[in-house]
Amino acid sequence: MAETVKVTIDGITVEVAPGTTILNAARQIGGEIVPPAMCYYSKLQGSGGKCRTCLVKVSKGSEKDPRPMPKLVASCRTGVMDGMEVQNITSPEVIEARKGVVEMLLINHPLDCPICDQAGECHLQDLAYEHGEEATRYEFERRTFEKHTLGDKIQLHMTRCILCYRCVFVADQITNKRIHGVLGRGDAAEISTYIEKAIDNDFSGNMIDVCPVGALTDKTFRFKNRVWFTKPVDAHRDCPTCSGKVTLWYKGEDVIRVTARKDEYGEAEEFICNTCRFDTKKTSDWVIEGPRHISRHSVISSNHYETMHPLPVIQQKPQLQEFNKEQFERATKL
Ligand code: SF4
Ligand code: FES
Repeated sequence: MAETVKVTIDGITVEVAPGTTILNAARQIGGEIVPPAMCYYSKLQGSGGKCRTCLVKVSKGSEKDPRPMPKLVASCRTGVMDGMEVQNITSPEVIEARKGVVEMLLINHPLDCPICDQAGECHLQDLAYEHGEEATRYEFERRTFEKHTLGDKIQLHMTRCILCYRCVFVADQITNKRIHGVLGRGDAAEISTYIEKAIDNDFSGNMIDVCPVGALTDKTFRFKNRVWFTKPVDAHRDCPTCSGKVTLWYKGEDVIRVTARKDEYGEAEEFICNTCRFDTKKTSDWVIEGPRHISRHSVISSNHYETMHPLPVIQQKPQLQEFNKEQFERATKL
């Protein structure tokens, strides 16, 4: 078997290992051509194939069989072939289909962003903003569910769930005891803990980090602040259970939330334990490394102090620099 295969995505060619999916090949190129992914999560085996946001057009199957694929395919589940040509943002068909996927995902998702703790770092919010239509055609009542309690640390809002299954994979693969899963089918499908048991194992908090929407949120952070007003700082501690590498989210002098460090696709770099996440919220518990760089194109990246890029007009005029003194100071102060 060849050591690498060539695939061209939106006109950019990359060589990848055989068996790589189109989505991961696109991630090796990076930038705008990477399809959005709401259910695939590279650290969770078997994830992907549920949400269809990553649809792409395969305009040439391979060097050996250049016929195009008859339908759009889920890039997170389709492996590349040597000589394959793929269109993502260069295909009007894909852009149109993605609008439909967003519309479908929003059919049952409440538009409660103003009171949702995930606002600002919600992948569905970003997806709808970047790929959705302005108005909905849906006039029926949205689903409602009976309330489930997932213990004192994790809040479940089932109405916001898009059934991506990521949290189920976390429970399956990262904790030693899965007591929740998806029950029911179709529009009755829901995340549930069998017999309402609290999820009390050491790594269950990672479900919050993998949830792309506000269906699973941190009860210890609920309603404390809008995320774009907080200051993210990388820190670590000597933890016997996990790597202890986290991001602390500050409001003033207080740590109001602890999360895993997330990459540009919103994926945790390393999963963290519940002690680090929920029980270690004093600055003195941590060794501070420095400001966290947020590389996502989302409102979450605004208002942080990490870098300040003054407009050219401010750079040239000392008087304007004086007016912005406070901002400059905030930019250099941790
Ligand atoms: S609760 Fe969140 S992570 Fe779990 S299936 Fe629903 S959307 Fe996905
Ligand atoms: S990311 Fe591919 S189907 Fe959800």
